[in-house]
Amino acid sequence: MVKAYNFFSDFGWINDPNGLVYHDGCFHMFFQHHPDSSTWGPMHWGHATSPDLIHWSEQKIAMAPDRLGYIFSGSIVVDHENQFGFGDGQNTAWIAFFTHHDRDKFDRQDLNCEYQSAAFSLDRGMTWTKFEGNPILPNPGNLRDFRDPFVFWHSDSASWIMILSAGDCVHIYRSTSLTGWTLSSEFTVPVEDGAVWECPILCELPVEETDENRWVLFQSFNPGGRYGGSGTRYFIGTFDGYEFSVCEQGQDHPKQSEAMWIDWGPDFYAMNVWANVPHPKSGPIAIGWMNNWAYANQTYEKPFRGSMTNPRRLSICKLADGLFVRSRPAFELDTKSVSDDAPNIQIDLDGGSLCAVEVRCLTDKLHSAAIHIMSEGQSIASIQFEPKSNCWLINREKANPAETEDLFSGVFTFPRLVDSEDVIIELLVSKRGVELFFDDGMQTATLLLDQRKRVDEVTAIWG
Ligand code: FRU
Repeated sequence: MVKAYNFFSDFGWINDPNGLVYHDGCFHMFFQHHPDSSTWGPMHWGHATSPDLIHWSEQKIAMAPDRLGYIFSGSIVVDHENQFGFGDGQNTAWIAFFTHHDRDKFDRQDLNCEYQSAAFSLDRGMTWTKFEGNPILPNPGNLRDFRDPFVFWHSDSASWIMILSAGDCVHIYRSTSLTGWTLSSEFTVPVEDGAVWECPILCELPVEETDENRWVLFQSFNPGGRYGGSGTRYFIGTFDGYEFSVCEQGQDHPKQSEAMWIDWGPDFYAMNVWANVPHPKSGPIAIGWMNNWAYANQTYEKPFRGSMTNPRRLSICKLADGLFVRSRPAFELDTKSVSDDAPNIQIDLDGGSLCAVEVRCLTDKLHSAAIHIMSEGQSIASIQFEPKSNCWLINREKANPAETEDLFSGVFTFPRLVDSEDVIIELLVSKRGVELFFDDGMQTATLLLDQRKRVDEVTAIWG
């Protein structure tokens, strides 16, 4: 079955996007998958393909658990030069790097329960052979959380780089072979007690209107999200192949005295980027799991559980007070506008479609304005601006997506980073939820809605 927008699996449970890779006109997305139930369990890698990042066809399961454990998150590289030696002369090999998670050891509280492994495919990800010598990077012996390898080729220092979460920091390794990984540095920042580091991604982003790039480290935390639960932060910096250092961010201006989130809503996690995409100058294409570990296992979705956001294109925007990551939808949208004259937009989400709505106004009108996401005449979520604190307020009290968890049925508040007079908010509304793009993507906020309620209207109320 071909599905459009906000990918979900036809059966079972999904979480993180894994091994995102583009090859010969096709976007591949692997993902954490439990095919036998709609709650988290023995992790497989599911697989889906798309020609345009909109329409997705689910393929057969790529990798299943084995004697070394569950198949946790990871990445894929296309080995054009056959450096790892798995190519057969005719077919370019793809190498998947992932974490083996030994559940028995984990249950026995054995700290040596996670290690990194590899597999290769000669048919564009349809079948995989696990490397006989797995694991390729053993656990140092004392790191219960040692996972989610993200691997890429760093041409300036002529080496493969693997970054992964290792306890309360990120480890950066280098290698020119499959098994010879050397630790070159660690990266950490102070985080709240008990936060667990997961799914680090390190990639270059173009700085808009310049020829420059910056390296950005995206780091997911669970717990450690802005509202509790899970969330993904970013750090802008430099990377020389050995060490990542933060620059031009976070030091001495008020807006950045707090953490920078790649999405300021509750439901965007484990963000990942596509490898091997042509035209890297346009910036990487990213996607996140549209969920939050605080209640992911309890949402009302049926018969499957979990979906992805829509893909986003990332770049860096230079404002007077620093550098910020901008996210824009990665595909063209047919956007409807809400205005003073036409404040209501009827939405028809039948057939799994997506509705894009743009709301524009001037800042001085904002204090009394509100955007409502409606279902059968009732507001189930609203977006407002609070001028005194310069904050956006998203209220989802009436659309709690999980029965047992009240953490997220509240109000999500975050500062507006942009000072411009014109305000533009773009909403991507689908059956799964809403993705909000504020100020041309300078900030985004993603929220799941209650899957039992049918969204049929977006209304803007001007004071
Ligand atoms: C993040 C995560 C990863 C792990 C995977 C397990 O959501 O916890 O750290 O590899 O999910 O499914």
